[in-house]
Amino acid sequence: MTRLFVPRERRAHERRVAATPETVAKLTAAGFAVSVERGAGSASYLPDREYVEAGAEIVAGDRDDWNRAEIVLKVAAPTVREDGTDEIDLLASGAVLIGLLAPYADLERVHELAERGVTSIAMELIPRITRAQSMDALSSQANVGGYKAVILAACHLGRYFPMLMTAAGTIRPARVVILGGGVAGLQALATAKRLGAVVEVSDIRPEVAEQVESLGGRFIDLPEMESGEGEGGYAKAVGENFLRRQRTILTEHLASASVVITTAQVPGKKAPILLTREMVAAMKPGSVIIDLAAEQGGNCELTQAGEEVEVNGVRVIGPINLPATVPLDASRVYARNVLSLVEHLSPEGSLTIDREDEITSGALLTTDGKIFNARVAQALRAEQEGGS
Ligand code: NAI
Repeated sequence: MTRLFVPRERRAHERRVAATPETVAKLTAAGFAVSVERGAGSASYLPDREYVEAGAEIVAGDRDDWNRAEIVLKVAAPTVREDGTDEIDLLASGAVLIGLLAPYADLERVHELAERGVTSIAMELIPRITRAQSMDALSSQANVGGYKAVILAACHLGRYFPMLMTAAGTIRPARVVILGGGVAGLQALATAKRLGAVVEVSDIRPEVAEQVESLGGRFIDLPEMESGEGEGGYAKAVGENFLRRQRTILTEHLASASVVITTAQVPGKKAPILLTREMVAAMKPGSVIIDLAAEQGGNCELTQAGEEVEVNGVRVIGPINLPATVPLDASRVYARNVLSLVEHLSPEGSLTIDREDEITSGALLTTDGKIFNARVAQALRAEQEGGS
């Protein structure tokens, strides 16, 4: 029987878990022996008892539990714990690690995983193709992020979202501008509409217009819009001239907005700057900007990841890891993505890494002591050459 282990996440503020009782039941039914570290689900309100009922064994999560595991399911990349134990050292050589391994965030750690002989699979690298939709953790988590960004904005805003007609007069609805109409942006649009706001969306991919309109939003036309469509459903980078024209158009729309949610990104690139200091300063006092691209450098010039900055009464908030603030549902959908990947990797019941398979090879980060993903390997080489 293949041994599969689910540790408790230890990264700061991480509350999600990589398997839920629902997915554990399916894994045990498929023939895996599943052990779950005591309390692994508690920050997601999933008690140990439910894991036991689903067929898991609850374990202490010590060195032996890690070392015996042939597959380890995680949310975040392995961390160095407070007592100095490095989770990479706990993994057995030859083990398979599946998680959101943030391959570009810390290339040295990817190198360490390779050196340890771990076969690691990064959920972020799953290709965005129809066949892999059920495994697309970036989308499932961006959905949570887009939703929570609007809730966060509503909490910080000193006014209503909906239009209200009351005995004390009429309150006009809040206007929300969303920059980037991908997964997070469209969910933010749907959530802001449900709260009654008037919503406008800007994107560089013309086909987003139809999606925006079908959700009741208005698409901000960018004249001379070239197709921003890149590979695999993602955008390609646009030039600085285009961005300058886009910022001019956006400035008019920002004048009447109370909330801006920014989600614009191009994979593997620093987030484009869509809001300059001047644009923010020209907004109405009391407005709120939630910059979801904070960790990629931010779509707003003033954003500081994990911080709140105020300029002329406009608050710029750069949240990190919003999905972890909705841990139960974020874990539910993430765990289903992971289950779907494990099922894909084990068509005959035992796990096989088929390098000819588009999904497996796309997401394979390290194996056989090497970094398998060509882009990540190249980024590490560039970093090492730059540093030498
Ligand atoms: P996505 O790739 O589905 O969407 C990004 C969109 O931005 C695309 O539609 C793209 O065409 C658009 N875009 C690119 N350049 C643009 C420009 N100049 N103007 C307007 N639109 C532009 O990405 P997804 O999954 O929606 O994620 C969006 C961002 O949110 C990412 O940076 C992601 O890391 C972040 N995120 C952050 C969270 C947090 O807690 N801070 C939680 C979830 C997602």
